[in-house]
Amino acid sequence: MYEYELVGAALKLLRDMFKVKKGESVVITSDTESSMEVVRATAQAACALSAKPMVINVAAPRGVGKAADQDLPLAPLTAALKEADVWIEFNNEWLLYSTPFDEAVAANKKLRYMCLVGMNPDLMVRNIGRVNNVAVGSFLNKVEEITKKAKHVRVTTPAGCDVEFDHQPNRDFYTSDGFVGHGEKKMMAGQISWTPKLETINGIIVFDGSIVPSAGLLKSPVKLTIEKGLITKIEGGIEAKQLEDYLSSFDDERMFRIAHISYGFNPGAKLTGDIVEDERVWGGTEWGIGNVGPQLTSDIPGGIPASSHTDGICLNSTVWLDGELFLKEGEVVGPTKEIIELAKEAKKLEY
Ligand SMILES: [Fe+2]
Repeated sequence: MYEYELVGAALKLLRDMFKVKKGESVVITSDTESSMEVVRATAQAACALSAKPMVINVAAPRGVGKAADQDLPLAPLTAALKEADVWIEFNNEWLLYSTPFDEAVAANKKLRYMCLVGMNPDLMVRNIGRVNNVAVGSFLNKVEEITKKAKHVRVTTPAGCDVEFDHQPNRDFYTSDGFVGHGEKKMMAGQISWTPKLETINGIIVFDGSIVPSAGLLKSPVKLTIEKGLITKIEGGIEAKQLEDYLSSFDDERMFRIAHISYGFNPGAKLTGDIVEDERVWGGTEWGIGNVGPQLTSDIPGGIPASSHTDGICLNSTVWLDGELFLKEGEVVGPTKEIIELAKEAKKLEY
């Protein structure tokens, strides 16, 4: 599928986002659940740039992250990653936060990495191939700047969200702008995540896109009441019950606490039930619940642990930054002309 267009998407990934140079080593990892079409296309693109691709395909582990360790060829995999210039991860049972990942990242300070877990031809053509990735990257960096500058944020949606919070001063944002520089580790482009001052989050969150894991793609909205960052009530139909059962199953009070908010800004993303794409739907906001990863808490080494994590999507969000309108039902309307123009450019698909 898309065997012609895929090479174009992979070329954009390596050339525009990683700035791969002649002679660099590009290690592409995958497992037996991965799409080998995207793997092959990426290796072809590396050759087109006169770089040196190396494909490592492993038997799919029975778990992800550290849970994958038991099934991985740890020593040879780690050895290759420790020396790579570029690492593209297409594993379905992901290596992110596995022992080979941790050891490679600690030892290889030049490594440029992107996590593209669960990538398939359709997703890659829509979210990378048709997207002006450079324009999206510039827009996202500006969005991070204006959002970070605000002290207080209010988010509403047509489905009934109305929630407010303050920022935690001196806490970094995690912006997936698509650009991967020296030593950087990135996720797929089109998302900005951050963890607010958790005890200041109050109001109503209504998920109307998807909740993954637990309910999946939603047929009816799920309403959460939030008091000081804690979920005190979950209302709705069968999907609300599925979420509540999921959170309760861990017998862990932290699983009822908010972990992060994210903006979605990939102009090619559509709601499919695949959370990697859902959380990038343009103009949506996402709320994470449970574990807070270390990448979201620059001020708290190790993050805020909980048994697990789930994410829910609120479509067509309206966002006020210190009372000034930034997003109106999913469209960028302010606060400056510059950001409106950057959004316009970023939204233009290339084909
Ligand atoms: Fe999340």
